[in-house]
Amino acid sequence: MSKLIQVNGFAIFSPVHLSPGLWRHPDDRSLDFSTLDYWTDVAKILEAGKFDSIFIADGIGIHDVYAGTADAALNTGAQIPKLDPMLLVSAMAHVTEHLGLGVTAPVSYEPPFTLARRFSTLDHLSKGRIAWNIVTGYSNTASRAVGRDSIMAHDPRYDLADEFLDAVYALWEGSWDDEAVVVDPIRGVIADPSRIRKVHHHGAHFKIDAIHLVHPSLQRTPFLFQAGASNRGKDFAARHAEAVFLGEHSKAPTAANVAETRARARAFGRDGRDIRFYALLTVIVGETHAEAEAKYRDYQRYIDPKGSLALLSGWTGIDLSRYSLDDPFPTVKKDNAVTSMIDSFSRSERPWTIREIIEHNGIGGRGPVIVGSPTEVADQLQAWVAETDIDGFNLSYAVTPGGYQDFAELVVPELQRRGVYKTGYAKGTLREKIFGPGQARLPSSHPAARFRHHAAVEPQREPTSA
Ligand SMILES: Cc1cc2nc3c(=O)[nH]c(=O)nc-3n(C[C@H](O)[C@H](O)[C@H](O)COP(=O)(O)O)c2cc1C
Repeated sequence: MSKLIQVNGFAIFSPVHLSPGLWRHPDDRSLDFSTLDYWTDVAKILEAGKFDSIFIADGIGIHDVYAGTADAALNTGAQIPKLDPMLLVSAMAHVTEHLGLGVTAPVSYEPPFTLARRFSTLDHLSKGRIAWNIVTGYSNTASRAVGRDSIMAHDPRYDLADEFLDAVYALWEGSWDDEAVVVDPIRGVIADPSRIRKVHHHGAHFKIDAIHLVHPSLQRTPFLFQAGASNRGKDFAARHAEAVFLGEHSKAPTAANVAETRARARAFGRDGRDIRFYALLTVIVGETHAEAEAKYRDYQRYIDPKGSLALLSGWTGIDLSRYSLDDPFPTVKKDNAVTSMIDSFSRSERPWTIREIIEHNGIGGRGPVIVGSPTEVADQLQAWVAETDIDGFNLSYAVTPGGYQDFAELVVPELQRRGVYKTGYAKGTLREKIFGPGQARLPSSHPAARFRHHAAVEPQREPTSA
């Protein structure tokens, strides 16, 4: 049987995600972003289209690199205002049964203990459908907002993230045994202290001496997303990630990243096939090619170049107000940046001008934009999977929720007809839906597994005789 293509809907809790200016399009509902009705509608549309998950981007920074101020971002709504997605997803869980719910949360601004508690809570409330997109943050503003002078250097951020993950794994995997929850009304016992352990984590950045506050959820550790693509980012993904989100423009660097990260996973004792890869892309589909082309041209008229420049400067750490739009995109390495994005702009055969990047990125961000009829789109999606070894797509949009809806109504049936898209959801947790029955929790090859019986986890009390 052909490999089934997986799909995530890519979103942000803000009026602008990756298509600045498109909120002005008459078909767009972005301005409803701060209502639960909008998000529960999105969740239902994605589930009707049998998407695997939604992936909500986040971060506590604001894009203030362009011209050295946040004015352009604030003017154009470029990912500001930005609300907290952790507070959103239980409403989406409540109106769906299968959709995975991926929330981005940085490791750089709070202790592991409080974050671990919130993810365990969400995993309970969603019946095991929560995913965590692990990010290290890339903005100086975010660091200053929480009392630091500037962001840590790029690679040490990942060292901190490794330590953060060891700490949350100890809480999720090691603190409570499955048998710890007793609930015996006759004896009046809820939990057995001899089955609950205090986690002692004393590292370079974090210190914990505490019991995890939440009893084991169905997945224990949430399903782990990651999207770093630098050299150090690939190592981090190879060690921890269950799904990696790529943001390349073309197939060759995507294929190279997939092959390299899968190979590196083996160096960490994992199977490279235990990581799913999703390429960022936007689909503009119509009943016919001409209809899709007309839609694309119409959407392009709404791109806001100023918003695009605010986003690009923020991501790359390069103040693009200092350049002419016809200059080639500068390749200056910054610590406060998504370094892999700068690499990908500089790697293409011909250097992109800033204007070309604005035009391309203005609809759905850095990934390719596929425009066509359902059969043309399906052909291209299959070609991407065949030529890059990815598992699926992280679907961005020009207008929301219309972009998801068009995909669900026009492209999904075509993919199903070809036998390359699921016709129903599998039972169980998100991890079981992605990796198969019996895989509710991380496999023993994953680094989290060693915390299941780690020496640093001591019983809260010696067992008592009943
Ligand atoms: C598809 C995609 C989505 C991302 N989403 C976020 C996000 O929501 N928040 C964030 O802080 N970084 C996000 N990033 C950035 C990465 O997670 C990562 O922090 C960044 O690429 C820097 O790491 P690198 O230099 O290893 O690539 C995203 C990257 C990609 C490709």
